[in-house]
Amino acid sequence: MTAVPNSAGFHRTASGALHCEGVALSAIADAAGTPVYVYSAAAIEERYRRLAAALPPSALIAYAVKANPNLAVVATLARLGAGADVVSGGELARARRASVPANRIVFSGVGKTVGELERALTEGILQLNVESEPELHMLSAVATRLGRTAPIALRVNPDVSAGTHTKISTGRAEDKFGIPAAQAKDAARLAASLPGLSLQGLAVHIGSQLTQLEPMERAFASLGSLAQALRAEGHAIRTIDLGGGLGVPYEPGQPAPPSPEAYGAMVERVSAGWGARLIFEPGRFLVAEAGVLVASTILVKQGQDRVFVVVDAAMNDLMRPTLYGAYHGIEPLEAKPGRMVVDVVGPACESGDTFAKAREIGAVGPGDRVALMTAGAYGASLASTYNSRPLVAEVLVRGRDWRVVANRVQPEAMMELEAIPDWG
Ligand code: LLP
Repeated sequence: MTAVPNSAGFHRTASGALHCEGVALSAIADAAGTPVYVYSAAAIEERYRRLAAALPPSALIAYAVKANPNLAVVATLARLGAGADVVSGGELARARRASVPANRIVFSGVGKTVGELERALTEGILQLNVESEPELHMLSAVATRLGRTAPIALRVNPDVSAGTHTKISTGRAEDKFGIPAAQAKDAARLAASLPGLSLQGLAVHIGSQLTQLEPMERAFASLGSLAQALRAEGHAIRTIDLGGGLGVPYEPGQPAPPSPEAYGAMVERVSAGWGARLIFEPGRFLVAEAGVLVASTILVKQGQDRVFVVVDAAMNDLMRPTLYGAYHGIEPLEAKPGRMVVDVVGPACESGDTFAKAREIGAVGPGDRVALMTAGAYGASLASTYNSRPLVAEVLVRGRDWRVVANRVQPEAMMELEAIPDWG
């Protein structure tokens, strides 16, 4: 049995067959069809336990639902005690349906609608992370109308460059997120003066797929100083939300991101003396390595100067390579002799529908299946039905057992929601 690089819960048996826990991925592909996401429950649980052990026992780990909102995944984490970080009414509904208690839910986002604010207050969630002064006014009006008090934290933009892909940096002055640090005191005064709001904390999130601790530590330290300054002005800062962002390894040979233990040690160092309950919003770390996207090779095509392996998954199923130039390992489900250097592409009508260029992979031919590795986070959650392709199916494995946890949505089902007007 050999481990597969940059994945958790996946291994090859002696015969060379790629397994998720005790189940051969080819058996899942035969029964459920492809493309299909496959997640390892054991790997998700192992990641959660490891992170929880590295953080203070009083901390709340509010899983960032956006990373993988499948109900079975959220429920797996909820059973271990995880809360949820949600950014929409839909994610709030999912977290509740997956039995995340309302008092473990944090609502983030730069543009929550009145309807979403109402829903959050009615549910009685732990905290709304407010990202602007206009949002303070909106929330105050909604809370007053509902006769409730909104527990809030101010999400601060610390103007720190996180050293990650520009599209997933969130803590620079040019980014839309958070209240500029220089305006935070005014925002706290405003919050204290408005009816229906109870300021209880501060929050920060500087980006995703972070591979260095130093920018995080700088952002956290500046948040700690701000907490002290706000307390000196009479505000009770009881919670400090340090966001998510911890990276995972995608590409063999790249420097490893910080371990959860190193992250936890940094947090302990920087938060010593804060006297606040810490909240974390990890997404990717908990689920990325625990998932793969299984696809079938439709055909292998000789181009002018290269070979294209055309698979039945496309950019609509796994958007990350197209959107961020992201690397995902590609492993044949059955190890055959030989290697080949190819472009692995999907059938969608865009040149950007390319999973790998000039990549050396194990030999595959028509009908052979491959797994796109490290796809448990921001894989299915970013999927669409572009080109009227079905919405991808998802499977959760536990030991030798597995279940379809999201059925493939066929174009016929989508067309049921559409209509041709009868105006002639
Ligand atoms: N909290 C907030 C406020 C966030 O905006 C995010 C991610 C998280 C927590 C979770 O971050 P994580 O621990 O997963 O890094 N689609 C991109 C990632 C977008 C991240 C958006 N916000 C990708 O595929 O790389």
